[in-house]
Amino acid sequence: MSKKVRHLLTLEEISNKELAGLLDLAAKVKAKPSKYKKELKGQCLGMIFEKSSTRTRVSFEVGMYQLGGHALFLSGNDIQIGRGETIADTAKVLSRFVQGIMIRTFAHKTVEELAANASIPVINGLSDAHHPCQTLADLQTLQEHYGKLKGLRLVFVGDGNNVAHSLMIGAAKTGMHFKLVCPAGYEPDKTILKRAQIEGVKNGSRIEVTHTVTGSAKNADAVYTDVWTSMGQEAEKNKRLNAFKGFEVNEKLMAESPKAIFLHCLPAHRGEEVSAGVMDGNRSLVFDQAENRLHAQKALLIHMMA
Ligand code: CP
Ligand code: NVA
Repeated sequence: MSKKVRHLLTLEEISNKELAGLLDLAAKVKAKPSKYKKELKGQCLGMIFEKSSTRTRVSFEVGMYQLGGHALFLSGNDIQIGRGETIADTAKVLSRFVQGIMIRTFAHKTVEELAANASIPVINGLSDAHHPCQTLADLQTLQEHYGKLKGLRLVFVGDGNNVAHSLMIGAAKTGMHFKLVCPAGYEPDKTILKRAQIEGVKNGSRIEVTHTVTGSAKNADAVYTDVWTSMGQEAEKNKRLNAFKGFEVNEKLMAESPKAIFLHCLPAHRGEEVSAGVMDGNRSLVFDQAENRLHAQKALLIHMMA
């Protein structure tokens, strides 16, 4: 990352101290939003979406408005990227109009290419490999509930996907233990896992992968899951439904750790990765978590653009 332009592509661009500061700021922004209403006065955020979104789109758009700025929704199909204009040219052009870019796309390489060619901050609003903004909200939610992050035990039952990757990086940076429970063949990316494990050692967190569901939630402080079929993997849906049989987060699994809260980045599929009872039960903090997308990203936007 250059000294002048801050990007958030994977969460690794942010130092652990900065991350702690960002979470503090997110709590302050949530407690007193009016104090920050002019932070980004007159600034514009271009938001490129090549995949669907409810939370990311609305939280960034409302967040920019609440900070005194403005957000532009740029659908990948409607801007010239959809007709073959290069990512590099798009980055250079947008850099002349707006003060920040958020992108949701498929290949993580696209986010990197955009950042490499932009002279303004680029935020990854989800790629096939990472979802750092989700992790910021997840960390804020855990910190609110437990008053700390260090030493918490987070169990992620599901696919070793973008959400799991960012979460393991976030856990490693904040000293939380992270266990991913997935079927064989759905492990996280080896390089990302290794990097998280190395970072985890420095901060006292254990980052591990297992294939055994039964007993996996014992002593957990939070059980987290995400969809089995991510955006862009629709053709594999039936194969995945089969592979993930037995990996549902349900009442039986949650009973292994009576104190654990339930988290999900959403959107959720009741009856697949989570039972309706857990999703809508009193240990589920999923809607606080969704709300925190707004506060955590406002803190991020201030940090990167103000
Ligand atoms: N969790 C999340 O990113 O939701 P959206 O896909 O609705 O933005
Ligand atoms: N893993 C999911 C997350 C959606 C917010 C996906 O990429 O579709």
